[in-house]
Amino acid sequence: MTNAITTQGLSKVYHEGAVEVIAVQPCSVALPPGEVVGLMGPSGSGKTTLLSILGCILRPTAGRLVLFETEVSGLDERYLPAIRRQYISFIFQAFNLFPALTAYENIMLGLKVKGIDGSEAEDRAAAVLKAVGLEQRMHFLPRDLSGGQKQRVAVARALAADCPIILADEPTGNLDVVNGHRVMELLKQLAAERQCCVVVATHDNRIEDIFDRIIYLEDGDIRRIHTG
Ligand SMILES: Nc1ncnc2c1ncn2[C@@H]1O[C@H](COP(=O)(O)OP(=O)(O)OP(=O)(O)O)[C@@H](O)[C@H]1O
Ligand SMILES: [Mg+2]
Repeated sequence: MTNAITTQGLSKVYHEGAVEVIAVQPCSVALPPGEVVGLMGPSGSGKTTLLSILGCILRPTAGRLVLFETEVSGLDERYLPAIRRQYISFIFQAFNLFPALTAYENIMLGLKVKGIDGSEAEDRAAAVLKAVGLEQRMHFLPRDLSGGQKQRVAVARALAADCPIILADEPTGNLDVVNGHRVMELLKQLAAERQCCVVVATHDNRIEDIFDRIIYLEDGDIRRIHTG
């Protein structure tokens, strides 16, 4: 089976004036499709940095990154937007919904970015909102939705794009326990049904039991990998 994400000696060093911050130490992982992977560790341990590199929004300082069969690390910068469109959906702690657009319109816009519009987009948007249990809230603006509902719209947007890799940064950070679990269960279902690889950066211990695999980071270093 081809892995969704493979890294070899992937690292990131930030230079802030004279100060050098080793945010991610050389790391090698192989993550298969169909799994929900937790990226856990204390604040500042490099979770967001590693997730951003995996999502091709930040370039590594050294090492290899391969998404399915595409070697990304060697590619010129100008190819990265196309790689992101093809492979990656993001979910953020702050939901990142457009406040002036309804749940449905937010999803339509996400699809447009991926090059999908017309009746296919309309059908998909309605179907994914139903799948996350929000068919009654389709035409609500984000301000009229609860935190849990907003995050479910963000999950629906990722679902609609149908990308094989979903990267989520603290997706339960703004949610209570019940809504946090609901969102994680949706991601788990998505991984199983569509064979997506879902990577979730979090320090929320309450959702630990959901993960198929947990990568523990400390000071940018993978201290251990727990396979459930
Ligand atoms: N743009 C940047 N320039 C310089 N240093 C940075 C930059 N972004 C992050 N860092 C540093 O890299 C390290 C890892 O940061 P990162 O944001 O990846 O941690 P994190 O595990 O996501 O933390 P949190 O749980 O607080 O979100 C930290 O020491 C941080 O200060
Ligand atoms: Mg972070």
